Amino acid sequence: MKLLVCGGAGFIGSAFVRVRLAAGDEVVVLDKLTYAGRRENLQDLEIEFVHGAIEDPDAVARAIAGCEAVVNFAAETHVDRSIAEPDAFVRTHAQGTYVLLEAVRSAGVRYVQVSTDEVYGSIEEGSFTESSPLAPSSPYSATKAGADLLVAGYVHTYGLEACICRGSNNYGPRQYPEKLIPLMILNALHGDPLPVYGDGKNVRNWIHAEDFARAIDTVLLKGTPGEVYNAGGPDELENLDVVTRILELTGQDESLIRYVTDRKGHDRRYSLSSDKVRSLGWEPNWLFAEGLPATVDWYRDNEWWWEPIRSGEYRQYYEQQYGLKLG
Ligand code: NAD
Ligand code: TYD
Repeated sequence: MKLLVCGGAGFIGSAFVRVRLAAGDEVVVLDKLTYAGRRENLQDLEIEFVHGAIEDPDAVARAIAGCEAVVNFAAETHVDRSIAEPDAFVRTHAQGTYVLLEAVRSAGVRYVQVSTDEVYGSIEEGSFTESSPLAPSSPYSATKAGADLLVAGYVHTYGLEACICRGSNNYGPRQYPEKLIPLMILNALHGDPLPVYGDGKNVRNWIHAEDFARAIDTVLLKGTPGEVYNAGGPDELENLDVVTRILELTGQDESLIRYVTDRKGHDRRYSLSSDKVRSLGWEPNWLFAEGLPATVDWYRDNEWWWEPIRSGEYRQYYEQQYGLKLG
């Protein structure tokens, strides 16, 4: 089929583009190329690229022409940036999702909204299911929850053929190094301090981006319109455990760990039950014990990918966020 992938130049979107190209699709990518969106992520892939924003109706109309389905990854994705400057989060998630839904409604095509476990908030014990109440706690998760509710409203009101797929914390190649795992890998490889928020005991449920991309693919092909599907990874770890494993894999020691001021409103634990998407035939291929070393190897071997980031605007972001210098 001919498929429109919004936000396809990002970390997970580009993994998903690879899955659909391998299945024989013709793929159009619409992407604004924010700091996190990179043409390098789509290097060597045969796609049609439209440079534009999902909140721009003209760009969306150009990109959607002739497409039979739309999958929306386009988002501002970093919680810390949403705390510092929430406006782009509101624009992209609220206005952007609205513009896309209008275009999908008039084109009469299938739609998948990519979302996050963070819309459910934090959970002390057990796991969230698709019927857990939405209780977002940051500008990032609140605006993602708003977008999900808008999708649900379009399904109910206009009979849109749309599903929502909510993932847990992703890791893998091509993740922008503002997020925990690539930040810690690159700092460890450079002998820079590893900034751990609070007591380091917050728990995240890790899924490899290839597995999340395959879950979204399953929802696109087999999901029932109007339904939500959670895709959580097989492993839950405290942040300190993740950081310690990265130190071991990079030959560094714990003296690099720096405890820094905790994130405002920091969610303690995320955990997703994936029974519903498993019932459609999906299961994760990657365990963290194998996926983390493979990810460390990818960053070690792909300096061409991260060097332009680490030597650019990212340095100012990093120094302002952490009050630490990069080596
Ligand atoms: P990312 O930050 O790597 O990429 C986001 C992409 O969207 C970039 O290519 C960016 O240029 C593009 N974009 C941003 N605003 C846009 C706009 N207004 N119009 C068009 N393009 C725009 O993000 P990611 O980690 O790949 O996340 C992709 C999706 O998956 C997001 O919707 C996110 O909420 C969701 N998600 C991410 C995770 C995670 O751990 N990274 C977990 C669960 C769900
Ligand atoms: P992050 O990768 O930002 O994802 P999210 O906040 O969406 O879960 O952070 C993952 C966890 O790591 C979270 O508990 C915050 C923590 N963290 C640190 O301790 N230090 C850091 O420098 C970063 C970026 C995150």
